Amino acid sequence: MLLKATALLAAANAVLAQRPSNTSICDYYTEALLKENNATNQYTLLTLLVNTAVIGNYTQPNVGVSVPGILNPDGMYNDTKVNLVPYFNGGLASSNTGGMSGMAVNFLDGGGAAPLMKNMPAADNTSKQYKLLTHLYEFFGSLLGCSEVGMAGFAAYAGDGSMYEVHKFMVLDPFEVGYFITQVGLSAASFGVAQSDIDAVAMSLEKLFDNRCAPKTTAIEAQGPQYQSICTDEKCPLSPNSTCAAQPSMEQPLVANATLAMGEGRNASSSSSSSSMSMPSGTSIPSGSSMPSGTTTGTASPMPTSEGTQLVPGMAGLAVIVAAVLFAQ
Ligand code: HEM
Repeated sequence: MLLKATALLAAANAVLAQRPSNTSICDYYTEALLKENNATNQYTLLTLLVNTAVIGNYTQPNVGVSVPGILNPDGMYNDTKVNLVPYFNGGLASSNTGGMSGMAVNFLDGGGAAPLMKNMPAADNTSKQYKLLTHLYEFFGSLLGCSEVGMAGFAAYAGDGSMYEVHKFMVLDPFEVGYFITQVGLSAASFGVAQSDIDAVAMSLEKLFDNRCAPKTTAIEAQGPQYQSICTDEKCPLSPNSTCAAQPSMEQPLVANATLAMGEGRNASSSSSSSSMSMPSGTSIPSGSSMPSGTTTGTASPMPTSEGTQLVPGMAGLAVIVAAVLFAQ
């Protein structure tokens, strides 16, 4: 196994030297890190990226880039406490199930963090957790330009085309959306993705999802232009050419289960408290995080192909991903 890992590392390092501008981020890092650029490996890359963003670092060895994780109840973004857990565990009535108001849904019903630590979306393939995680792999796979999306081994995203509709009853603010995007960036950094590529992804995500009342935009080519604002709280910056009439603002979600809501929600009676229900044991949880580097305005269209050459953290990141893949086999 060690020999196999060493050979992979050597091959990957040779490729990692520079990402050509006509190669997508997904294709480039799949080949660099997993050697062969095929649908299965692209799906593995997206699984590692999303699972790490969701639950924090779980691969060994840790390269020194700490990922607190989206399901960390003690998240910090720009000196503000963020706890996204109650949106996922059924604590808040914040999911769009097709009605006029949000409903409480437990999206951690497929084993929670444990299967994610084994590079799986869930312990089964029928849970809400399975659907959510696989949809995230597929959605981010398209955003990152995976060329094999839609081929055997990497199904195309077939979830809701409007990120506004999916998230509208969550009424997410800039800190919550910023925290989420930061976790994706930190996850990528933990696998050795170049800072310039991380910045390009973050800018693209911000441009697509961070402004309130944004006009219809295409995120997934096959789904065409849709309302994509994920940031819908009044604190979110108003989009240029805003179309608020078509995207009515909602009230903050109600508490559905006070224990699971952990002090979040419009009618919460207490302040936030910590819980580590979703975190893998042994994961280090730093008290704060920030984007690996500054991210402000962005360019259009899914993944830009900026000339990423810098290696952060290079070989160490490769060791992580190779180890994760080898252990998973
Ligand atoms: C860049 C930011 C984000 C992107 C690209 C994104 C993307 C997605 C996608 C593709 C889905 C699956 C939709 C479907 O299956 O039809 C989803 C669902 C979900 N997202 Fe996000 N999301 C983002 C930010 C957030 C944030 C900040 C939260 C905060 C709690 C969040 C919470 C959820 C939840 C709870 C679901 C399940 C909703 C449902 O199926 O009803 N997302 N997201």
